[in-house]
Amino acid sequence: MSQTKAIEYDVADMSLADEGCLRVQWAERFMPVLRQIRERFAEERPLEGLRVAACLHVTTETANLMLTLQAGGADTVLCASNPLSTQDPVAAYLVTKGIGVFAVKGENDDRYYEHIRAALEYRPQITMDDGADLVGSLHMLALQRYDDLAPVLRSWSTKLSEAERVEVVEGVLGSTEETTTGIIRLRAMAADGILRFPVIAVNDSYTKHLFDNRYGTGQSTLDGILRATNMLLAGATVVVSGYGWCGRGVATRARGAGANVIVTEVDALRALEATMDGFRVMPMHEAAPLGDLFITLTGDIRVIREADFLAMKDGAIVANSGHFDVEIDIPALERVSDSGPLQLRPLVEEYVVNGKRVVLLARGRLINLASAEGHPASVMDMSFANQALAAEYLRRMGSTLTADVHRIPAELDQEIARLKLASMSIEIDTLTEEQERYLSSWDQGT
Ligand code: NAI
Repeated sequence: MSQTKAIEYDVADMSLADEGCLRVQWAERFMPVLRQIRERFAEERPLEGLRVAACLHVTTETANLMLTLQAGGADTVLCASNPLSTQDPVAAYLVTKGIGVFAVKGENDDRYYEHIRAALEYRPQITMDDGADLVGSLHMLALQRYDDLAPVLRSWSTKLSEAERVEVVEGVLGSTEETTTGIIRLRAMAADGILRFPVIAVNDSYTKHLFDNRYGTGQSTLDGILRATNMLLAGATVVVSGYGWCGRGVATRARGAGANVIVTEVDALRALEATMDGFRVMPMHEAAPLGDLFITLTGDIRVIREADFLAMKDGAIVANSGHFDVEIDIPALERVSDSGPLQLRPLVEEYVVNGKRVVLLARGRLINLASAEGHPASVMDMSFANQALAAEYLRRMGSTLTADVHRIPAELDQEIARLKLASMSIEIDTLTEEQERYLSSWDQGT
């Protein structure tokens, strides 16, 4: 680890900072809501002296969030929430702004967890997660389940005194969680009665999942696949697994590009919705021999399995955009392949299965962040406005909230939507007094 201006950091190359600066400023142009929050934060300093550790994808948009928290008076550190999603120039730039960044694109598992350790070592009062890695590690520490920690964290935990362990765990006022998969984990922790502090489910805000998951993932997933492969979508058969907020975004955009889209689902309502949206719906074993491109977005495990790889046609391409790299059963692919992986292009690897070529993108990790730049800034504007307001809310109200998963207050969600519309110069109608009365009454039926 290196030190500059008394901050610790671990990034790939500090000489990339100027490039990072330009890229962060470019993203900022598309983030007017976050900009307004930053301007208010700079005046009011609602986070003065608060230690915030964020475990997020280290992108240009995240950089703008970190600078917003800093403008509000927070002392911040940032580590990656995925080993492949870090933009090294952005990491370097944030270090020059006095933010301790621990993230290197392509870091191995040990370095990834070393970086999580560095974030926890900082004794955060608020943590921000994208996939619950910080909160999960904190709770393993709290419950003294050291064997369930990654090796790096395990050996760190054994060196902590009891007082230090309590300090790390008890010092947290609350946390925020960015993504669906993280919230599933946190709700499971709350149901087991082990969650120790309140968590704000940023993903549950309408101004997050309706836009980021649908339009952000929809566009950036295809962007990642196109940058990795340069394939033509028109006329291709694209199998989309999962018709949740992310899946419907990808399916709709793939259709818009001329693909024949098949959806696979396990939920009857969502399968019905996909059907009535005009997609073919079938089980994966029927879709496997038909697809030219497979994209998983389920948050589930082993969605594409051994039998599916065996059934795929020559040249099939397989990618994942769900949070973890468990949706495509890569060990099964390795088991049934005669040869591979053969690296064809960056993060494009070919296996030969029964004499047919199967191409795996980005080792099954989030394709939009590994092979492209993640979501466009314009959509992250709203997601990260939620994160910034959630931090402020936790500072103000955290001590009154139960140790559970909470939504951001509805007024804040509405306010973000209002600011976004205003930034797009879009005005809407307001209710007249008569309409308000009518809509809140039960006896004015005609
Ligand atoms: P969601 O809960 O709205 O949708 C998931 C869908 O997958 C559900 O309809 C569910 O029934 C379906 N599903 C579950 N198991 C399945 C299986 N075996 N086969 C077929 N379908 C199955 O979740 P959302 O918001 O769409 O998120 C999906 C994943 O994407 C999560 O892991 C989330 O964390 C991640 N995510 C990724 C982003 C990115 O930048 N790539 C951005 C936002 C979320």
